[in-house]
Amino acid sequence: MKALVTGGAGFIGQHVVRELLSRGHSVRVLDSLRADVHGGRQWVPPEGVEFELGDVRDAAAIDRALVGTDAVLHLAAKVGLGVDVSDLPDYASSNDAGTAELLAGMARKSMPRLVLASSMVVYGEGFGECAEHGLVTPAPRQEKALAAGQFEPPCPQCGRALETSLVGESAPLDPRNAYASSKVAQEFYCSNWARSTGGSVAAMRYHNVYGPGMPRNTPYAGVAAIFTSALREGRAPMVFEDGRQRRDFVHVRDVAAATVLACEKHVSGMRAFNVGSGTPRTVGEMAAALAQAMSGPSPRVTGQYRLGDVRHITADSSRLRKELGWRPRIDFAAGMAELAANS
Ligand code: UD1
Repeated sequence: MKALVTGGAGFIGQHVVRELLSRGHSVRVLDSLRADVHGGRQWVPPEGVEFELGDVRDAAAIDRALVGTDAVLHLAAKVGLGVDVSDLPDYASSNDAGTAELLAGMARKSMPRLVLASSMVVYGEGFGECAEHGLVTPAPRQEKALAAGQFEPPCPQCGRALETSLVGESAPLDPRNAYASSKVAQEFYCSNWARSTGGSVAAMRYHNVYGPGMPRNTPYAGVAAIFTSALREGRAPMVFEDGRQRRDFVHVRDVAAATVLACEKHVSGMRAFNVGSGTPRTVGEMAAALAQAMSGPSPRVTGQYRLGDVRHITADSSRLRKELGWRPRIDFAAGMAELAANS
């Protein structure tokens, strides 16, 4: 097939492009090379890849980019937690208006197949298990509690600390920051489009993606990149909260493989897929693994916090394994060693 990858010059996009090529597909990339990601640098596409410089909010660029393609993998987005509320309009515009323009363009061309880069952040804190009230949605964490070092989200009914559990795709959506809200809106725009055009959408809810090419030294860099940058400069990784917050760190090549499999195999209606390694780790554990692999100073647990952060976010990715036959290939130790070696 011939695939259009929006955001194909970005971190995950470049790996998706490589995966598509390795599976024999033709690829066109639409990317605006936005300055806050690419820092004004040019991008040279891999051999054989067509490149359209343009923004997904520009209908004419979309029309040009869609010509002759069979499927769209939509990865163009503003990522990360954002800096503060002043970021809201850019998330809404880049992610939501951009997706709406893309979908309108796909409808003009009767293009039926879409893979959307979504995120685990759509679930907020997911579920927690209260000793008294069973499975509950954790209440938002209050600044006062965080400042007092109480990091675990409480039971909304009795305030007790909760045990967390893995979240499946049918869990309620509960976005807790600007980025998360924009991803939920993208999913809803896509499901509206699928219903009214008969198209298919695979919404890939990525966990914490790491690996070669991670963005660094921007306000939007993920924690693995922040830690490797610090270690490279001989500084200790600064671990927020108490370091026991859990995430599922999944390697970008595994994520790219899942994304391309979804494009090849998912052909009817809207379906969400959690994309995670299946093995939750704490942020403290990841800092320690990187510090050891890079022979750097031990991590410092600072007790600092960011208001938009969720405490734990780990979901069940068995649907992806069962329905698409995906398996992660790169385990945590090997992935961290590779990150350390290339930092
Ligand atoms: C990340 C992604 C988001 C993606 C989501 C999927 C980034 C910036 N965000 O969000 O796009 O959709 O995963 O689950 O890539 N931390 C530290 N020290 C630091 C920085 C962060 O301890 O210097 C901690 C944070 O407090 C947080 C954890 O590391 O608990 C992860 O932070 P981050 O990498 O920003 O990712 P998420 O918020 O999980």
